[in-house]
Amino acid sequence: MMGCTLSNLLGIRYTTKEQFLEFLHNSTQFVEVNQRAIKKVPSLRGRSIINLFLEPSTRTRVSFELAGKRLSADTINISGSESSTKKGETLLDTVKTIAAMSPDAVVIRSGASGAPEFLAARTDNISIINAGDGLNEHPTQALLDCLSIRERLGKLEGLKVAIVGDVYHSRVARSNVLAHRLLGNEVRLVGPETLVPPRLISADLLTPLSAETPGKLSVYSSLKDGLSGVDVVMVLRMQLERQSNFFVPSLEEYSKEYGISEKVISRYCPDAVVLHPGPINRGVEISSELAYGPRSLIARQVELGVAVRMAVLFTLLAGSHEG
Ligand code: NCD
Repeated sequence: MMGCTLSNLLGIRYTTKEQFLEFLHNSTQFVEVNQRAIKKVPSLRGRSIINLFLEPSTRTRVSFELAGKRLSADTINISGSESSTKKGETLLDTVKTIAAMSPDAVVIRSGASGAPEFLAARTDNISIINAGDGLNEHPTQALLDCLSIRERLGKLEGLKVAIVGDVYHSRVARSNVLAHRLLGNEVRLVGPETLVPPRLISADLLTPLSAETPGKLSVYSSLKDGLSGVDVVMVLRMQLERQSNFFVPSLEEYSKEYGISEKVISRYCPDAVVLHPGPINRGVEISSELAYGPRSLIARQVELGVAVRMAVLFTLLAGSHEG
């Protein structure tokens, strides 16, 4: 295993290409562990990890919990409805309380964009890991998406990647745009202008990367132009819980215009693989046939998510306390 210079994973915007590839490299070793009959290694024995999930989650929460347990760490889970934030305690006070018990890592999911950075700046000796913050980032999702793509296509560079749908509300999209630009891939954001505002490709997504970064980023409002010839189609969930106004005339209209089905893929990009971070709104942004068909990586994304989270925990915790 390679060493790591990071102690937190707050977002892909703070990660170099080298560090990103190192997480992927370390993940492949845990993919092998997860194929064994007994999927447990002693790597983080004696370490404690708190999973603080203040927003709903199934796959990310279970995946982080399993990852910690398979590394033999002691894991404790706190969900929004059980934590004192429900009694009015601020996030900072909740984390200060948790920090006083000296865990090695806090994995946090929060509806507040920037919460992981806020906490990392105010705690010492605890690795803060972002499991999704508001509209901002979801770095482990980008890592597991890239691992799934590399495994199926045999490469992770020189690709054309289309990200389709509710880009505006999607932290998955932000982390993936940053990751693919880091890798030098071409990224196309595809969807109606309300969900893919052209200003998204201005400062927000570009500043963390230097002007020389090769990855190209562009916006398309037509599926035909956006998907033509791409290698990867990443379909996003319509984030209805974050849409306080009407961003599309109706879900039926959206689905007719932007729903991704086998027919759409075979017409515009017949060699493409398809990803979706889940949970799926079946029949809205993606058809069931496609989601469960041969070009879908969705089940593999979930499977590889455990290995990626094991690699992140291992790389940050074991790497920084050698021996
Ligand atoms: C994503 C999330 O919560 O950001 N889900 C996940 O972690 N697998 C995407 C989504 O909710 O649409």
